[in-house]
Amino acid sequence: MTLSLKLRPRRNRKSHTVREMLAETTLSIDQMVLPVFLTSGTKKKEPLGTLPGIHRYSVDVLIQEMDRWVKLGICSFALFPQIPDDLKDPTGSESLNRSGLFPNAIFEIKKKFPQVVLFTDIALDPYSSDGHDGIVKNGQILNDETVEVLAQMAIVQAQAGADYVAPSDMMDGRIGAIRNSLDKAKYTNTGIMAYSAKYASSFYGPFRDALGSAPKSGDKKTYQMDYRNRREALREVKLDIQQGADIVMVKPALAYLDIIREVKNSVSVPVAAYNVSGEYAMIKFAGKSGALDPEKAMIEVLTSIKRSGADLIFTYFAEEFALIS
Ligand code: PBG
Repeated sequence: MTLSLKLRPRRNRKSHTVREMLAETTLSIDQMVLPVFLTSGTKKKEPLGTLPGIHRYSVDVLIQEMDRWVKLGICSFALFPQIPDDLKDPTGSESLNRSGLFPNAIFEIKKKFPQVVLFTDIALDPYSSDGHDGIVKNGQILNDETVEVLAQMAIVQAQAGADYVAPSDMMDGRIGAIRNSLDKAKYTNTGIMAYSAKYASSFYGPFRDALGSAPKSGDKKTYQMDYRNRREALREVKLDIQQGADIVMVKPALAYLDIIREVKNSVSVPVAAYNVSGEYAMIKFAGKSGALDPEKAMIEVLTSIKRSGADLIFTYFAEEFALIS
């Protein structure tokens, strides 16, 4: 029997070529940023137990890897340092050391690969003996005192060659303070990629393992956002744009696709999404157990993030994606 149907959506799915022709979303390595973990010393490439396939590198080895990544078409990176415990203190003072691990790595990378775009992390957690993104006093995370340090950190990183400083701390007013401090020091071309709607999430576990940066006590709920909230994300994003953010981010990505879409529909700056460590680990471990095809799941997940409105995706999958695309 033949139904008398005028409209048959399946006609637009009838062959591979038709599907390729009509696909609404495409992925490109140009819009992916690979997060990279740095450690001190030399000749180090340390595998990370909770992030299969991802390593922590000393700068010398990182430079060699980057050569390979750049040849694969990966053109931007987000850098995060693992700071030795004996350099951590309550104010995160190592973050302002101009000859420390982080500024030195930024400088070396930009010297070797001037064309790559470097997003450099601004927050105190890698440097703080309390493992918080800000300065802790009597169990409270101090806002304004922390912002003062972050604004100085921005100068250290800009001077080393950062393309975008990327505050991931969620203190109030930090974008304005960082913009002022960069402009005053004449770093008017250094951008700010703001982690604007960053939620207090259980999906950051593997990242904290990689840097040894988990909070020593308490959680991050007084500064990172409550995942029950959507309107609040728009408020955060708007404040950051008013204060000078060049790119705004929603983080994590997967459990927050509605937020990415909402932000995308309400702003005119580029929107980034961070496909975080726990989201990567979920697929990797499910793949190892045989529960799903990890490569197909990767493409599906990255496509969903793009489809939700992300212009830029920070993802540990960038290398794997580049290898198969
Ligand atoms: C901390 C920071 C975190 C991540 C990026 N910057 C962890 C946290 O807020 O505790 C997480 C990234 C990831 O999980 O991949 N400033």
